Amino acid sequence: MSSERKDQHVDLADAQQQTASPARNDFDDVRFVHHALAGLDRDAVSLATSFAGIEWPVPLYVNGMTGGSTRTGEINRQLAIAARETGIPIATGSMSVALREPDMVGTFRVMRDENPDGYVCVNLSADATPDDAARVVDLLEADALQVHLNAVQETVMPEGSRGFSAWPDNIAAIVDRLDVPVIVKEVGFGLSRPTLERLADLGVAVADVSGAGGTDFARIENARRAENDYAFMAGWGQSAVCCLLDAVDAAPGDVPALVASGGVRTPLDVVRALALGARAVGVSGVFLHAVLNGGEEALIARIRAWLEQIAQLQALLGASTPTALVHTDVLLRGGVREFCELRGVD
Ligand code: FNR
Repeated sequence: MSSERKDQHVDLADAQQQTASPARNDFDDVRFVHHALAGLDRDAVSLATSFAGIEWPVPLYVNGMTGGSTRTGEINRQLAIAARETGIPIATGSMSVALREPDMVGTFRVMRDENPDGYVCVNLSADATPDDAARVVDLLEADALQVHLNAVQETVMPEGSRGFSAWPDNIAAIVDRLDVPVIVKEVGFGLSRPTLERLADLGVAVADVSGAGGTDFARIENARRAENDYAFMAGWGQSAVCCLLDAVDAAPGDVPALVASGGVRTPLDVVRALALGARAVGVSGVFLHAVLNGGEEALIARIRAWLEQIAQLQALLGASTPTALVHTDVLLRGGVREFCELRGVD
């Protein structure tokens, strides 16, 4: 059952949501003011980023997706090779299935075997115990743990969980137990300012706002229901852009260090998220599409192109590091501007 679900998620995420020309989303409402004399030399630009004690050579990562079936194990192998060849951090999909079905451990372990020196995050649900968390970190010799919050997905999922109240205590216990960083993430519905403040109170050092506008698990799970009777949930949540703006004036320590994902379609979207305060940017759907259509070679070429284009955009915008992008002039329009007005963001 779990294996079948993992395969369905991959198929539905790709066939239903990766369209030939990417759909409009909130990243389009973020525009840079062009300053024609602001540019730097490309060679003076660094892509390195650091946050909460984590140091990455690039501000881009392959976000958590899959594993738990023979087919998704092969996808993980290809993702891991691409991460190794390009030096970018990567995360597994949820390893809950590997805790229940030890035969499936190999479909995740391949991500470490193919990428022995890379930065690898393992992924679990917030239902996990501290023992579960320690076990999956050990299984992959992982550098960090991602804990996903997916109440919207569970609600629409036919066989989904209906209880979420234990999550805050579970997260605090996991943070307490592990020696590696814990990154709490959404799965495409966004983390609000109050949620981020709560996570900081629970001791979480890093949060991935993973917002709406890209892969939509409400649509994916609705498509898995015989009656398709949760179609009204499509589009739930806030975009990464809105989540970053919601937290933009938070004092240090009030919210975790932020990384962002959800709806990232191009290198320009990466740079937009960095300019709004993300320390790194994750991509799932678009990179999955590259692997499904051209294998690891296609993904390697895509990531290399994106890294060069991100560096070129930094040079154009006068930002010698990803963090320096926060000093660029950004204009907010449309729905994003309306969100800021309604939430009282200056
Ligand atoms: C995901 N995502 C995800 N997230 C997570 O924390 N654990 C998981 O097991 C999965 N599984 C999964 C499968 C597939 C096929 C996709 C495409 C995505 C969610 C992912 O990490 C990310 O938060 C969202 O997909 C939004 O990013 P994109 O796809 O819009 O770039």
